[in-house]
Amino acid sequence: MKPEIIKVSQISPDQSVICILGKNEIPENIRLSKTEKEYALKQLRDGEESVFINSYYKCTYLVKVKEKVSIYKAKEELRKTASGIKKLIRGNNHEELVITSGQAYKEAVEDFTEGLLLSIYSFDKYKTKADEDSKNSFPERLLLHGDLGKAELKWLTDLTDAVYLARDLINEPVNHLNTAALASEIRKTGKNAGFRVEVLNKGKIEALKMGGLLAVNKGSVDPPAFCILEWRPAKPVNRKPIILIGKGIVYDTGGLNIKPDNYMALMKGDMAGAATVNSVFYTVAKNRIPVHLVGLIPITDNRPGGNAYAQGDIITMFNKMTVEVGNTDAEGRIILADAISYASKYKPELIIDIATLTGSAAVTFSNQAIAMMTNADRKYISLLEECGNLVYERIAELPFWEEYGEMIKSTVADIRNIGGREAGAITAGKFLERFTEFPLIHLDIAGTGTLKKDDHYRLKDGPGSGVRLLATFLRKLAAGYTKLK
Ligand code: BES
Ligand code: MN
Ligand code: ZN
Repeated sequence: MKPEIIKVSQISPDQSVICILGKNEIPENIRLSKTEKEYALKQLRDGEESVFINSYYKCTYLVKVKEKVSIYKAKEELRKTASGIKKLIRGNNHEELVITSGQAYKEAVEDFTEGLLLSIYSFDKYKTKADEDSKNSFPERLLLHGDLGKAELKWLTDLTDAVYLARDLINEPVNHLNTAALASEIRKTGKNAGFRVEVLNKGKIEALKMGGLLAVNKGSVDPPAFCILEWRPAKPVNRKPIILIGKGIVYDTGGLNIKPDNYMALMKGDMAGAATVNSVFYTVAKNRIPVHLVGLIPITDNRPGGNAYAQGDIITMFNKMTVEVGNTDAEGRIILADAISYASKYKPELIIDIATLTGSAAVTFSNQAIAMMTNADRKYISLLEECGNLVYERIAELPFWEEYGEMIKSTVADIRNIGGREAGAITAGKFLERFTEFPLIHLDIAGTGTLKKDDHYRLKDGPGSGVRLLATFLRKLAAGYTKLK
């Protein structure tokens, strides 16, 4: 269970408390005996990043903000420190715990709390017996002390809920979350957060002639779905919507070009982009961010099967372009392309797609960065980069030169869905770019969207990559929209 976070204006002397320090000074409202204080200060001066003091009636955790690093890095180190002491906190069985700060930077309490909340998530709904360490419990309430606004508290609550939600969806295996189930979860999220969801069924997808989505779906026993999400606030800052597109492959076997053994691990998470878009809508709608958003989520699994699409097939896409299938495992770009050309009907200001798209992006950046390719105005990119640094979901830009487009030429169709081994992430981006005239930001989360092991508060399987990045981006975009123009 995720603890509740509540704002408090006072700390009583018998309450257990985490205090984040900017300097080696302990604030007055942290009651400790003289010897405890001396011990703590010595530890801090010796360079300990956190000190734990167990007085007989309460616990005190002192945490130091990292010095001589950028503010981005200091924020991230604090989130990581939080994840580093989660076991200690659990072991002490607190019912509630105060989090406060002394002379630290302004958002220190929020950053620490965020790191803590994100690191105590667990996906244990299928365990019939509780784990060993669950005989201790994490605090039910975190009491945040400081000059934290109501809107900030709500944002932190909703954003961390949104990351949990994305993780829950990514972590569900395909035997529990197939196409229909994912579409229905998105519908549920819309009801809960207050955005509109329309689900196009196979009949509608056929009527629209979305040849890409239908081709990838051919080997499946489950019909495809295409979700349209819309958040339209009363007075949006933007005249034309921003479109978010998420890859919703509920399982990627590779299709007839089937993946070898361990390459199929984690492929239940090939809908991480879809989960991210759904969670960004959740956060934006819950916080009534005044930006008009449309979400497009094509959903299917990719399997070999009776009538599966085959290498060499030529398919006609939604926008009438023809695609030569060079490899059935390059399925993500095929379903995304239909969504990207469908987006034209909204005459969007900007299209952002997010997808676990290429092994190449993961090979290049590991889990340290989201690979970005774009032809959009730099004003959006500077803001996105800044947000990436703030939430530490950093983006790394790859070149998007025209010449890379030549690698996906086909001799028999308008375009081919693979380019060859080289520049694999870029040629995938170039493929997508061909399906729209509108500005595109393409985010490849193959490296960050699914993880084999925990990376601090980014937990294994589905860490929820891109949720904090895009939600923060949209919030800041709305707040500074007139300046941005
Ligand atoms: N979903 C995979 C990409 C992927 C790989 C995501 C590893 C996360 C971790 C995608 O559909 C895929 O299979 N891409 C192929 C494309 C290739 C056949 C051109 C790849 O990158 O190997
Ligand atoms: Mn694939
Ligand atoms: Zn895939």
